[in-house]
Amino acid sequence: MAVDTTATTRLAVADVPRLVAELTLEEKASLCSGQDFWNTQAVERLGIPAVMVTDGPHGLRKQAGVADHVGLNDSVPATCFPPAVGLASTWDRSVVRRVGEALGVETRANDVGVLLGPGVNMKRSPLCGRNFEYFSEDPHLAGELAADLVDGIQSQGVGTSLKHFAANNQETDRMRVSAEVDERTLREIYLPAFETVVTRSQPWTVMCAYNKINGVYASQDPWLLTEVLRDEWGFEGLVVSDWGAVDDRVEGVAAGLDLEMPSSAGINDARIVAAVRAGELDEAVVDQAAARVLTMVARALEAAADPGTFDAATHHALAHEVATRTAVLLKNDGDVLPLDPSAAADLVVVGEMARTPRYQGAGSSQVNPTRLVSALDAFAERGFDVPFHPGYVLAEAAGKPGQDRTDAELRAEAVAAADGRTAVVFAGLPGVDESEGYDREHMDLPAAHLALVREVATVAARTVVVLSNGSAVTVSGWEDAADAILETWLGGQASGSATVALLLGEASPSGRLAESIPVALTDVPAQLNFPGENGAVRYGEGLFIGYRGLDATGADVSYPFGHGLTYTSFGYGDLTVDADAVTPATAPDDVVARVAFSVTNTGSREGVAVPQLYVGRPGSAVARAPRELRGFRTVALQPGETQRVELALTRRDLSHWDTATHGWVVEPGAVEVAVGASSRDLPLTATVDLVAPTAEVPLRADSTIDEWRRHPEAWAALSAAMGDAAQMFDTESDPAMAAMLSAIPAVKVTTMGFAEGLTPEKFSELLAQHGRA
Ligand code: BGC
Repeated sequence: MAVDTTATTRLAVADVPRLVAELTLEEKASLCSGQDFWNTQAVERLGIPAVMVTDGPHGLRKQAGVADHVGLNDSVPATCFPPAVGLASTWDRSVVRRVGEALGVETRANDVGVLLGPGVNMKRSPLCGRNFEYFSEDPHLAGELAADLVDGIQSQGVGTSLKHFAANNQETDRMRVSAEVDERTLREIYLPAFETVVTRSQPWTVMCAYNKINGVYASQDPWLLTEVLRDEWGFEGLVVSDWGAVDDRVEGVAAGLDLEMPSSAGINDARIVAAVRAGELDEAVVDQAAARVLTMVARALEAAADPGTFDAATHHALAHEVATRTAVLLKNDGDVLPLDPSAAADLVVVGEMARTPRYQGAGSSQVNPTRLVSALDAFAERGFDVPFHPGYVLAEAAGKPGQDRTDAELRAEAVAAADGRTAVVFAGLPGVDESEGYDREHMDLPAAHLALVREVATVAARTVVVLSNGSAVTVSGWEDAADAILETWLGGQASGSATVALLLGEASPSGRLAESIPVALTDVPAQLNFPGENGAVRYGEGLFIGYRGLDATGADVSYPFGHGLTYTSFGYGDLTVDADAVTPATAPDDVVARVAFSVTNTGSREGVAVPQLYVGRPGSAVARAPRELRGFRTVALQPGETQRVELALTRRDLSHWDTATHGWVVEPGAVEVAVGASSRDLPLTATVDLVAPTAEVPLRADSTIDEWRRHPEAWAALSAAMGDAAQMFDTESDPAMAAMLSAIPAVKVTTMGFAEGLTPEKFSELLAQHGRA
């Protein structure tokens, strides 16, 4: 059932409190779970209709007939835009926003109230089966772009569902695994993208993840769903479960999980009612959950009253334009790209993916596209009659000419055809390699694709490799064979035409890597603990995922985070950094440093530069990645054109999560600012000295001598109580001794016989006076 528009006059947001008062406990509990797979519960007695929510996120997957959760059953045709892996590679807020607007228009036109996305989980491991649905290994990039997508979708009067909250970074054992993550890592790596989208864009809903975090199911974690999400971030919408994520429904309601999806056939509704009647669950909490569901329904009904239509051709054109922006040109030796259209007679296209594109991932996000253009179609549309050879067997292409032969036969034919010519080889990951529900086991291309690239390259005059995959693949074993590599990710329904436009230079590649391409999977620190065992996965690498880990260990990479070539070149210059002093009054969002620099198009074609700003805090008292992305911009430049770019750094941008005070702390001292074209190509650097209050570590029962010393008044009192013994700790008279003793918890002095004056009672008195319990 879609939105019941006949009821639109009967439910507005303003009516919600009255309706909640009129509902029986049973009716309120029934609103806390779905009516079926995709609809909220209707309450006919009070004229409350059902509204439909559907996947998402890179197109609408509205099942008109039998719902099957995943798969393509009867899904209405919708524009298949590039999935998040591609959108993130644009690094372009306005492009992402426009995709969001188009998605919103299609959602509204199909009478759907909420599109179930975007997903902003971090790419902890390149192997996560759902990486194609996620934006990045970097929380800043993911959060900023996802907020733009949400703004775009919600500008059309429909809602979004920010997912999967939180620490859902693998598919292995996804419905029960416990992600064991320390507090600082959660705050700095796994939560910030959610935080940015919630605080900037107020998604209508947040979808809690299947997994547990540190032993507690996300679907019933009051810290996550209420303390952090609502109390700290100010989330105003509704929390929905991932489909089937509920473990204990009553605990979930109490923790802040408003809506369970899909229906639990009334079983969990009855449990909610029983818990209220038994005095185990406050009815006010059920009222609140029901009110949030009704508010979402009311908002959806406003759009449903005027659904509008969408123009599939216009949206297809947008899908093409966006796909030209998502591809990343990894290498381009001898400027082999763009291809010279007048030399088309010299071309040969090899690889089944040129005819049968791989353009989206498998699972609940799979869209039934309105059109599908392959690269071969696109060459033909331009009047290029290029010879094509499938080169390998591809399951998705079963039944197509040649697909009844073996890899070796197809390869031999393709290699013979490539002799002496410019060969464009389409390779990538077959659909079965990347899906919701399971992870990859390695990062390699299929052996048949690798053999094709290698053998073609030995005979072809020039070899261009076009990759289609939803997450990074290893290139280190074979990339030397290729003159150029264009990583198109999964490019949506117009990926074929966009690829050809880029190959022929109708458009310039402008994508940049939103995930690192390591030389080997074993270079990635997270792999030491992936995907875990016995129901738990320990995030032992802590903060060090993606480029943070690769930079910290100093590993070489094949291509660094942020990398991407174009058909022109850019120069960077004139860096200035102005920093203000941080004071206790400086708010987290206050700008404390302004960074400005110039970018110049130094080549002969127009192009899009993506200057990136990284910040390091050398000398920090806590573990830090050498540099972290804190700003970026896309700048379109004509040949010879220069633009000045200004990026701001807030107090929060320079802070870390302090586990002693459970808050954000900015340390005084050196801030290393670096600007350039990737995380490893940073021609502009400057170091400024940030003036900020010294972080105060509150005194506790186990504080060391050194920590007491940092509280002058408390130290004076402690020294006085120790009498002559205090000299042992005097850093001037015997520095070595003082250094050795400074790590002793002061409380030990009370029992080790150093200082008789400092009795346990006296110590307790001092601690009560100067410390914190
Ligand atoms: C997925 C969600 C999806 C939901 C509804 C779940 O299995 O994890 O991302 O939105 O199903 O299809």
